[in-house]
Amino acid sequence: MTSKTSETLKPGEARCPGPSTHDIVMADAMPPPPEFMANHYDYLGSADVSYDAYLSPDFAAREEEQMWSKVWQMACRLEEIPKPRDFIVYDIADTSILVVRQDGGSVKAFINSCRHRGMQLAKSGARGHAAMIRCPFHGWTWDTKGDLKSIPCSWDFPHVDKTEFGLDPVHVDQWGGFVFVNLAVSPPPLRDYLEVLPDLNLPLPMERRHIVYHVQKTLAANWKISVEAFLEAYHVLATHPEGLALAGDANCQYDVYGKNVSRFLHTIGFPSPHLAAERDQAQILAALGGEEAGLSLKLGERARDVWANHLRKIRGPDLGVDLSSVPTTQMMDSIEYYCFPNFVFFPGVNFPMVYRFRPVPGKVDETIFDLYFLAPTPEGQETPPAPETIYLGLEDPFIEAAGMDARLGFIYDQDVENLRQQTRGIRSSRKAGQTLGNYQEIRIRRMRETLADYLS
Ligand code: FES
Ligand SMILES: [Fe+2]
Repeated sequence: MTSKTSETLKPGEARCPGPSTHDIVMADAMPPPPEFMANHYDYLGSADVSYDAYLSPDFAAREEEQMWSKVWQMACRLEEIPKPRDFIVYDIADTSILVVRQDGGSVKAFINSCRHRGMQLAKSGARGHAAMIRCPFHGWTWDTKGDLKSIPCSWDFPHVDKTEFGLDPVHVDQWGGFVFVNLAVSPPPLRDYLEVLPDLNLPLPMERRHIVYHVQKTLAANWKISVEAFLEAYHVLATHPEGLALAGDANCQYDVYGKNVSRFLHTIGFPSPHLAAERDQAQILAALGGEEAGLSLKLGERARDVWANHLRKIRGPDLGVDLSSVPTTQMMDSIEYYCFPNFVFFPGVNFPMVYRFRPVPGKVDETIFDLYFLAPTPEGQETPPAPETIYLGLEDPFIEAAGMDARLGFIYDQDVENLRQQTRGIRSSRKAGQTLGNYQEIRIRRMRETLADYLS
């Protein structure tokens, strides 16, 4: 095999010097199946990507009309509507959707608007239980299947045929314990839309997890700026420098599977290439917490393997699951899957987050950001119901949210600060768009191409 020099590399072929994420993970004492680490990257060009998409109310209107109305989007987790006749309201742009658990356990979704005079049947943000769906304005009532059952003073509505006044259905489907909705008349099957996700074969499948924490915060940036901030690890060097001692960044692996789904995987317990020369394995183990845990390295052992083993032993009984065969990368690393347009989840044990980003209607510079932490559901146990949501306003930091993990709250606040400043900078810019890295920012380019496909 001939190795390529920087002069002979084509655009998109260059990678950070030093061990790649693939090298590190496949050398783990407990590596994942090779297909899990397979590289999926295609060069998609280097042209600047327009700023106008973040700033223009017209662009936001086109997104609503041509994109939000056609994509599969995560409306809730099943444990948010655990019992028959539980409901939750999912709003996207100007459309409000009522998601209802059915008597047999399946899920239906309806446009959240009364067929009488348009009242919302349940308020935005509501979650609860109702034997029947009764409009709070005049009391028209539907069953949870969406069939109209009663109209107060029905003598006044001889022109209303009840069979024609069912609630307007919305397509709904599930994967991994997540409920997805799609407002299109004939959407593609969810399974196709999710590309590689249904075949992931995770050792702890997403449907065997549950929400243990949910915070919803308004962000001071367009929803795409907000999503994009979480699609690359390039920013770790400048934004989260305290993470470099333990986290990969420039050597992060990026995979783009199709138009909708992409992934990054960056290692923990192996220093950033920016610092690699300055850290030995004993120092890394100490930084991971090895000293307090009484851990030491045998000859040739890597800190990351020793720490992963420790986590399997400690966290398994804690979580009530057997972690003994979970690969090191899924124990330790930051593995993030993104599904267009606004759904992100981390299937790892130590980084168990889910994100969802939605535009605030009428405000191009604001985003509703849902951050969930999921835990594996203990073996042999029913999924516990979801906890109450904690709400944070534009100015409320994550670090002050009740019950927030202090380490992660600090990191999210660093990211949130960037969003506001980037938005301000973009508004001032004399440039027409952002200039993306060919590899490290490929997921952003893919996302914007998929969006452009919907809008074209
Ligand atoms: S608007 Fe719903 S019953 Fe009148
Ligand atoms: Fe970040």
